[in-house]
Amino acid sequence: MKRVYFLLSTVLLVSLALLLAWVVVLTEGQFAAEESVEWAQFLGRFHPVILHLPIGLFVGLFVVELAALLNRNDGLRRSAHILVWLMALTSVLSAYLGLLLASNGDYSGDTLWLHKWLGILFSAGALVLAFFKVRIVCREGVGNGLYRFLLVGLLVVMTVVGHYGGNLTHGSGYLTAYAPDWLAAKLDKPNEAVETVVSEDGAIESNVYTRQIQPLLEQYCVQCHGIEKQKSKYRLDTYEYLMTPGKMGDTPITPSMVSESKLIEYLWLPESDDMAMPPEGKPRMSAEQIMLITHWVANGAEGPPVDEAAVAAERAALEAERTELNQLIKNGIMVLPVSRGSELFYVDFQNVKGTVADEDFALLANYKDRIQELKLAGAAVTNAQLELLRGASELQTLNLSGYSSADDAVDVIASFSALKNLIFYGSDLGDAGLSKLSTLNLDSLYLGATNITPKQFSAYQNSNGAVRVFGDVDLNAVSAIEVIDLENTADFNPNKK
Ligand code: HEC
Repeated sequence: MKRVYFLLSTVLLVSLALLLAWVVVLTEGQFAAEESVEWAQFLGRFHPVILHLPIGLFVGLFVVELAALLNRNDGLRRSAHILVWLMALTSVLSAYLGLLLASNGDYSGDTLWLHKWLGILFSAGALVLAFFKVRIVCREGVGNGLYRFLLVGLLVVMTVVGHYGGNLTHGSGYLTAYAPDWLAAKLDKPNEAVETVVSEDGAIESNVYTRQIQPLLEQYCVQCHGIEKQKSKYRLDTYEYLMTPGKMGDTPITPSMVSESKLIEYLWLPESDDMAMPPEGKPRMSAEQIMLITHWVANGAEGPPVDEAAVAAERAALEAERTELNQLIKNGIMVLPVSRGSELFYVDFQNVKGTVADEDFALLANYKDRIQELKLAGAAVTNAQLELLRGASELQTLNLSGYSSADDAVDVIASFSALKNLIFYGSDLGDAGLSKLSTLNLDSLYLGATNITPKQFSAYQNSNGAVRVFGDVDLNAVSAIEVIDLENTADFNPNKK
């Protein structure tokens, strides 16, 4: 007889556990069909009613087991048996209804998550507890220790689940809201929010919005009026949205005018009112929190602070930059962004005829790490000036066509770490300079019309196979080219590109 009972009980308990797991999986996926959503909503609302059954039964069970333990009373122990069964069944039912309620999406957030999973844990634990009890009854006291251990563990879990459940329906702070002051001071930080807003002289501090108002709206309102849902076409997840009316068209907030601020009115409405915010059944703000928002509106509803000093500094820097660049441009040095909105420059000296004023070059050197392409062709830039650009970190293309004393410039050129394209067309670059260029990791090198000997040219090509080298250094051809006024192919003379 005991064997049959034990087997049947085990089968029943395992089935219940599987059923619970199945409902968890099902509700995680949400209910798709409209009809089932309505059913879920209808049944789900019984969760707050049913859940009191396992709680009461569990407390009863605990007391009976304790009494049985103290009195060594077997009659009591047996009556506990029925309590375990009832408790396990009602807790699984309660978990099931809770999952339906949660699947409606009316509740969300960390509190729900904790309540839900701890609740499932409790129900699963209740099934295991029932199994232990059946085993004890059938096998005369085997596994009493485990059973008692689980009993105490579940008491702790139940307390925590209940706490989070309470916070979900009533909002945190519900329990302590009317506690006597001395107790409230121990349980909660007393009215901290309100105190920090209003300083000594009653003036409101500047970033109340970011520090205190926005987090409150985030907690109580954004789930319906935010990026995901916009009930009544109203959002309040940024200051601008908060101030913009929704579908109803009433001004939510009129700075300094509490009576003209619908949002404040909604906050103060009794929960039963249709326009109470948050709507009935949702965690409500505490009176202090509503007071805080009201106070903020009354004091001008100031928005998030703007760092005025930083903005002004940035504007001044831009202004100074524009003045400097304008001076360069006026003197023939073109400074253009490489693309729209880019920080990097393309700099071209081709409108500068002859020498470049030292102060112009010094000015340009201030921006050396923002120059991506530099075309010195046409201007008589000196090595001393070029030296000012030493270390330019973004420079990729350097055009030194026609440069004189190019061999001495190679040293500075080697300091441009991003350099890819180097153009020496028509410069006086000789073998000494070219041999020093071997260390650079270039993509292309233009050597047309330079003083390089064919021997050095092929030596360079042999040791720098990856570099595309342009320019025939047949000296006869070079002089011929100079005579025909540098008319050439784009390959040979990149200035023609
Ligand atoms: C559970 C969802 C939900 C939550 C949470 C919620 N609201 Fe609402 N809110 C609504 C719905 C629904 C309406 C439309 C009411 C109606 O038409 O009867 C609305 C309308 C409003 C409106 C009017 C918008 C308009 O059209 O001009 C304001 C203002 C508002 N809510 C503020 C708040 C504030 C402030 C909070 C947080 C304290 C909040 N709501 C929390 C659902 C919600």
